[in-house]
Amino acid sequence: GLKEEDLRKLPEDGIDPENPGKYRVLLEDLQGNILRGHGRDYSVHLFVEFKPDKTIEVKQWIEDFAKKYLKSAKQQSDEAVNYRQKRISGGLFTNFFLSCKGYEYLEIEPFLIPSDNPFRQGMKNEDIRAVLGDPKIDKWEPGFQQQIHGLILIADDDIIALLQGVNQMMQSLRKVANIVHREDGFILRNQAGQIVEHFGFVDGLSQPIFLKRDVVRSRVQDGGFSQWDSRASLDIILTPDPNGKTEDSYGSYLVYRKLEQNIKAFRKSQEELANALKVKEDLAGALVVGRFYDGTPVTLTDIPTFLHNPTNNFNYDEDLTATKCPFHAHVRKMNPRGDTGKVVSSPGFDEALAVERKHRIARRGVSYGTNNPIQEPEEGSGLLFMCFQADIENQFNFMQTRWANAGGFVQANVGPDPLIGQPEGTQKWPITWGQAKTLQHAFKLWVNMKGGEYFFAPSISFLQNIT
Ligand code: HEM
Repeated sequence: GLKEEDLRKLPEDGIDPENPGKYRVLLEDLQGNILRGHGRDYSVHLFVEFKPDKTIEVKQWIEDFAKKYLKSAKQQSDEAVNYRQKRISGGLFTNFFLSCKGYEYLEIEPFLIPSDNPFRQGMKNEDIRAVLGDPKIDKWEPGFQQQIHGLILIADDDIIALLQGVNQMMQSLRKVANIVHREDGFILRNQAGQIVEHFGFVDGLSQPIFLKRDVVRSRVQDGGFSQWDSRASLDIILTPDPNGKTEDSYGSYLVYRKLEQNIKAFRKSQEELANALKVKEDLAGALVVGRFYDGTPVTLTDIPTFLHNPTNNFNYDEDLTATKCPFHAHVRKMNPRGDTGKVVSSPGFDEALAVERKHRIARRGVSYGTNNPIQEPEEGSGLLFMCFQADIENQFNFMQTRWANAGGFVQANVGPDPLIGQPEGTQKWPITWGQAKTLQHAFKLWVNMKGGEYFFAPSISFLQNIT
């Protein structure tokens, strides 16, 4: 089995699933989509409540499903190799997640239920709801108000194959569970083919990376890690599965949140901000997000560069007074890249950076709603936010509450994250890029939480032997 050390330290070049060495068992028993996104264009999310008094039948269903459909991290990688070399598509991809209520339904003994605090409490818990600043549960979409035991994620590049797969699964599933809610997600792209979110900004640029291919890609196309090391050790994303059947059975916590985006109103606010600052709209947007809509970090320049692969090898060292990229900007709040040790005096930079880097999450969200951004919908479109982590309290919840919502991070009077901070507030905006003078301006919140839940992604050996 792996040692603590193997989880705490990533090999210099990352883990190579084609040549996994001591990580083989881990990769074979870990569900896909965790260490690296599954990359499929279309996905369906089925939220289920198991039917009363059918524990045995439900376990049988899970076991059959896991044997037939679940893909491991290793398999995901093997399929990706096949795709690159022979253009053979990996086909249907699936994940299976359980909520704490799901574990309880399955009569798993309490000490064998993943022990993370927020996971145990559930997202509907009043304390959790209050700290996150989420709307009252009766304002959530009806499906999310229901009891949720599990989540099945099904994805494919071929939308017909996906819908056929979903139909098949739903037929067998209906015998043991009620499908209380369904979401249909897709990858939104801009004219240049880059992945964007609904407000129009390139997304998915900065992630913690674990695998060799991602490490090599950063080195080849982004000059490596001189300014920012996006490599991360496995212990930020994996935790031992207490029910695993192998010596290296791991799982990961999934945070799922449906975040509606009011695109028309956001664009209007962006325009108003531009007018107030007398700057171009693209710069105004960059001061909100921290990157221009094309992905260029605003800490580096005041104009977009339109590079196909925007850099992630940057930090805020040349901008410690935040005259270029404001402290409130979404990406600076969500990944301060050393600010906690440099802007604020603290025991030591290295220590502060190490603590800061422990808060990182692996984002796996997809868009929902219209795929025509020209329509600027006010409702019905947004982000199905998903992220994996080893510790919800210290990762997603910490980020949302102590960084995004907080007005005093990274220092006093910064204001909340204008993109996702709950509740909305007032920020200080640089009037001229790179100069100290700022304008107080309240950027309204146009992201609206519609419901969600905390899940665990169990090891495959648990699910395949659950009966
Ligand atoms: C980065 C948009 C919600 C955490 C980004 C980026 C965009 C974006 C455009 C820049 C692309 C990149 O660096 O990869 C949005 C939108 C959201 C949303 C539109 C809601 C609808 C969230 C939430 C969290 C979050 C809820 C976590 C609490 C992050 C992180 C990064 C990021 C960690 C990477 C920052 C970095 O490493 O520099 N987001 N985001 N986002 N976002 Fe969000």
